[in-house]
Amino acid sequence: MDLHAKYPGLDDLKRRAKQRLPLFVWEYLDSATGQEATKHRNRATLDAITMMPSILHGEIEFDTSVTLFGQTHPLPFGVAPVGMSGLIWPDAERQLARVATATGIPYTLSTVASADPETVGPCVDGKGWFQLYPPKKPEIRRDLLDRARAAGFRTLVMTVDVPVASRRERQTRSGLTQPPRMTPRLLAQIAMRPAWAMATLAHGRPRMPTIARYAQDKPGLPPTEHIGYLLRTSPDWDYLRWLRDAWDGPFVVKGAMDPNDAPKLEQAGVDGIWISNHAGRQFDAAPGPAEVLPAMRAATMGRAWHYALAALGLDGPRHLIEMFQKDLQANMGQLGLETLRQAAGRLR
Ligand SMILES: Cc1cc2nc3c(=O)[nH]c(=O)nc-3n(C[C@H](O)[C@H](O)[C@H](O)COP(=O)(O)O)c2cc1C
Repeated sequence: MDLHAKYPGLDDLKRRAKQRLPLFVWEYLDSATGQEATKHRNRATLDAITMMPSILHGEIEFDTSVTLFGQTHPLPFGVAPVGMSGLIWPDAERQLARVATATGIPYTLSTVASADPETVGPCVDGKGWFQLYPPKKPEIRRDLLDRARAAGFRTLVMTVDVPVASRRERQTRSGLTQPPRMTPRLLAQIAMRPAWAMATLAHGRPRMPTIARYAQDKPGLPPTEHIGYLLRTSPDWDYLRWLRDAWDGPFVVKGAMDPNDAPKLEQAGVDGIWISNHAGRQFDAAPGPAEVLPAMRAATMGRAWHYALAALGLDGPRHLIEMFQKDLQANMGQLGLETLRQAAGRLR
């Protein structure tokens, strides 16, 4: 099948994913917090960026590569961490890690993913990124870092935009609890989505194996929180410095939005700042990433990969890469760019 003819854009994959996912799973992937104003602002501020097309620049040999922390990647994006990825599509972590690694782009495994570093490690070829929700207890921190490193994760990503749990009203309305409890309502939603139901049945119910071992003695939780909240703390600058010292490799802070924090982060030895407001899932009055740093664009993606996987299985992420690659080259051609570094010069 010609996937480019049938699914020419990300919106097509998104529509297909929605058709294949039970409502509560779709709402988990697609929703944000509150009125979703931040989510819409993220899109609107990106759309507001314009670039001046270039003419008469002759034929161009496109170089779409970027170098990050000493590694050259053929394309300027990667896979962002998504908790409970396996709820969206069974085995999502390993499948996306394999496609990303085969393409030469980074895959980031979430602390609260439904597969642990030991299981995903063989798919990242020593180049994985591991995202940490900061555990409170030093012994758990150390153990998690050791496990991630031993499994082949080279870059550590500390997420700082979840100091507390957020309210995700759309998720709650759909009947989703953490962990998902099989109520008659959820079962009815599942019954309407046989492809997801069969795949999930074959793979088993998704859990959070990375941290489950640390939470065995913990009592029950409110239905909107998961075990991650029992273990993690709201970190401060001392925590960040501790982590920097403890991790021997590239260290990225994810979820910074305030330009005033950038020099402090740099001083603390952070190698990369991942500008993000968590896709509007945490706070509904945040500015869009494109607004806070007009010259920079979010260089990594989370939802797109999961729309693709849910839409087409393993063909989805591969198709997405080709789609983005073609898009990138078409736009570089319009802008007269040989390399991505030149893009800033075409901003208006
Ligand atoms: C369903 C879902 C789960 C997520 N889980 C995590 C997570 O566990 N850790 C984290 O740092 N970010 C998490 N994020 C945020 C993403 O990594 C990313 O920052 C966000 O989705 C914005 O990128 P996008 O516009 O490409 O989706 C999650 C996002 C979604 C949609």
